Amino acid sequence: MLIINIKQLVGIRRNPQLLRGKEMAILPFLENAFLRIEGEKIIDYGLMKDLDLSNETNDIYDAKNAFVIPAWCDSHTHIVYAGSRENEFIQKIKGVSYEEIAKNGGGILNSAKKLNETSEEELFEQAWNRIEAIKKLGTGAIEIKSGYGLSVAGELKMLRVIKKLKKESDLLIKATFLAAHTYPTLFKNNHQGYIRQIIDEMLPIIAEEKLADYIDVFCEEGFFSIAETEQILEAGKHYGLKPKIHANQLHLSGGVQVGVKHQAISVDHLETMGNEEIEYLKNSNTIGTLLPSAAFFLRMAYPPARQMLDANVAIALASDYNPGSSPSGNVPFLIALSCIQMKMTPEEAINATTLNGAYAMEVANEVGSITKGKLANLIFTKNMPSLAYLPYSFGENLIDQVMIRGKFQ
Ligand code: NIG
Ligand code: FE
Repeated sequence: MLIINIKQLVGIRRNPQLLRGKEMAILPFLENAFLRIEGEKIIDYGLMKDLDLSNETNDIYDAKNAFVIPAWCDSHTHIVYAGSRENEFIQKIKGVSYEEIAKNGGGILNSAKKLNETSEEELFEQAWNRIEAIKKLGTGAIEIKSGYGLSVAGELKMLRVIKKLKKESDLLIKATFLAAHTYPTLFKNNHQGYIRQIIDEMLPIIAEEKLADYIDVFCEEGFFSIAETEQILEAGKHYGLKPKIHANQLHLSGGVQVGVKHQAISVDHLETMGNEEIEYLKNSNTIGTLLPSAAFFLRMAYPPARQMLDANVAIALASDYNPGSSPSGNVPFLIALSCIQMKMTPEEAINATTLNGAYAMEVANEVGSITKGKLANLIFTKNMPSLAYLPYSFGENLIDQVMIRGKFQ
């Protein structure tokens, strides 16, 4: 297929690399461009003026001055969950804190109860519907975590649902094992009891059935300590699972340092950052993944994105789509939040949700930029005056069409 009349072909890169600090401000594009696709892949692109249409035998699609952008790579979600938690949303409006709700058996434990009562088929169905909905908002690759099972059966059920989603969906999907999301009530006063379940009972089956690509721990006061985090990461490493950590969401938890020490692909959240944490990150290959929708939903301070960019950190942005802290997988909205609340430029925010998002789930050889040989996962916008209009006109749906693996959805 030949796509013609693209107003701006955004994110073209010959030799893509993880973007750090200042590099994130540069988002290369071609004006008045064409793009060629064969099967699932991008095979060529260039300027309209260099295109000779007289001998063209391929199907032609007229983009009618759309911006064409790589589909979003959402590297942190918990999209497999049962039901919803708008009752807690109301409690929070009335002044109860996220931590208080969690202490009273709400929060993650509330979702775990629902999940353990829901069948694998029903869970799959709910997650499938969420995936179909975010696809329309431009998401083309996604990481999904377990962590609402909190029991051997529940965690395996979640991971098997993710495995089935991988098989049936045309999105690129990565699976992360997050049994260490919180302590189940049964093990509230017996942390080692639950950690032994994770290590001795869950991990061997996960390895055998190839149910996960990564291992994650909610390293946070009142959740998993640094020592507990390290114990779980070591065990995961034994089975070839690289870490991606929930770090520094509520406190200076030491999560960043633990993540960097264990060569985590990414440390995620980072609402609470000190200079030491930024020093650690800037001298590492670990990506700092920011989840502004969660800060927005929980009315928390946003991560210090500008300070991190100035320090040459590699930043990704993701939705954290989950029922408790970010019941939204809307990437255009979080791009707007990043620009408005964290003072990222539109270029930085788009790099962070495309190429760096792809790196944060190790799929950058397949998606995240307009590169020959990569998948044709593309967003076609409605008419807009400039790329900056996308976050500027926040809340407006400016996506006209989404193409995944060369097919319009
Ligand atoms: O990434 N912080 C921990 N986990 C989720 C929230 C989970 C929940 O509240 O259900 C997060 O924000
Ligand atoms: Fe999360």
